[in-house]
Amino acid sequence: MRFAVFASGNGSNFEAILKAVKRNEISAELVCLFSDKSTSYAVQRAKDNGVPYFILEKESKQTKEEYETKLVYLMKKEKVDCVVLAGYMRILGKTFLTAYPNRVINIHPSLLPNFPGKYGIKDAFDRGVKKTGITIHQVDDGIDTGPIIFQKEIETKDFKTLEELEEKIHELEHKYYPIVIEEFVRELMTE
Ligand code: GAR
Repeated sequence: MRFAVFASGNGSNFEAILKAVKRNEISAELVCLFSDKSTSYAVQRAKDNGVPYFILEKESKQTKEEYETKLVYLMKKEKVDCVVLAGYMRILGKTFLTAYPNRVINIHPSLLPNFPGKYGIKDAFDRGVKKTGITIHQVDDGIDTGPIIFQKEIETKDFKTLEELEEKIHELEHKYYPIVIEEFVRELMTE
């Protein structure tokens, strides 16, 4: 089983996944990092760790379909079997998801379906909800929708500032995403 990580930003989850792969906690090969942003720090982390990486920035005149056709071609060329989104901030569409049916998962920093979108942690904190957490789910073509695989909740009252909450959420992500990825690839291997 060969997988790719897609990231647009900092890449701390990518690094946590990479560490788990190196510790043999994920029984699949991490083929490459893919980013839609050349400035993504995830790309730097890939370079620092000798992980192959690909960058494809969407041109404004390009349609989503054209962009994803290139992306599918690239992933198939690299013999990627499944994809793990880790802070990938572009919504995947039908072209990509048809090529990888039920083979893409995502992590989100809230208890979905609450607070989808870019600011899951801040939105929950500002709303003053009692509980928040993380969600890992199968990806469909909505914004942070698709069948939920895993959730971990925490009480927000334990965190006085947004920064403290963010730190805890990221800690949970780094702990649980590799474990869920392992379950995900193992299940695919039995198909
Ligand atoms: C993570 O908190 C992830 O859950 C979130 O982006 C962050 C990426 O951090 N994803 C979403 O909000 C998806 N809607 P990282 O680049 O340090 O891994």
